[in-house]
Amino acid sequence: MKKITNIPSHIGIILDGNGRWATRRGLSRLEGHKKGADAIRKMLVSAKKFKIKVVSVFAFSTENWKRSKDEVDGIFKILENMIDQFEKNFINNGYKLSIMGDINKLNKSLQEKIKSLIEKSKNNNQLIFNVGLNYGGRAEIVNATNQILQSNLKYVDEKAFESYLYTKNLPPLDFVIRTSGEQRISNFMLWQIAYSELYFPKYFWPSFNERKLKKCLIEFSKRKRRFGAI
Ligand code: IPE
Ligand code: IPE
Ligand code: MG
Repeated sequence: MKKITNIPSHIGIILDGNGRWATRRGLSRLEGHKKGADAIRKMLVSAKKFKIKVVSVFAFSTENWKRSKDEVDGIFKILENMIDQFEKNFINNGYKLSIMGDINKLNKSLQEKIKSLIEKSKNNNQLIFNVGLNYGGRAEIVNATNQILQSNLKYVDEKAFESYLYTKNLPPLDFVIRTSGEQRISNFMLWQIAYSELYFPKYFWPSFNERKLKKCLIEFSKRKRRFGAI
């Protein structure tokens, strides 16, 4: 079957391989992150065309602080520039921004820009762009647990627990794509991934484009999801 027969409502992307993409071309890792940011912008246009409702991307993990200060600062600068340059376009395209992760650890100016774009895009309904920033799946679960301990609840079921996660207003995570050929989850959406279909294409994130997204969706269409039933 070489057709898209089933569009996932919610896809997750572990966008990996920016650094390797760049070093293979004799460029700096930050050049790779810049290209990676361009690829994100184009991916949103394609995802909207395919009528995907929610795209969650892993932009910066709770473990990525282990990288050099130059690289970390550079990544946040690229994100800030991205908001400056594409904010208008983002809003006009009907995208809604949501964030998973503790953004209090980011610099103030980036925090302000993020909060302002969340506010300005809150009534948009074409596509939800959910970004993991200083995000970790374990941190998310621990954070939910601490919120519950501070409430007056004595017992929670799965549904109640989920209402403390960053994804509380989002549909189930149907499909996770990790580029670069690594076959691991690296602390991405650990709770949400329970029944997601997983796909690990070998190319690096900066080379992602509409044709590749289409191939991913064809792959998803081939999967038979059973959720424990027969
Ligand atoms: C993904 O690319 C982007 C982030 C983690 C911020 P990498 O920077 O991990 O690229 P590789 O894996 O070193 O090639
Ligand atoms: C996962 O990629 C995190 C993001 C894409 C933001 P990493 O490159 O940080 O993951 P590892 O270190 O290869 O597991
Ligand atoms: Mg990596």
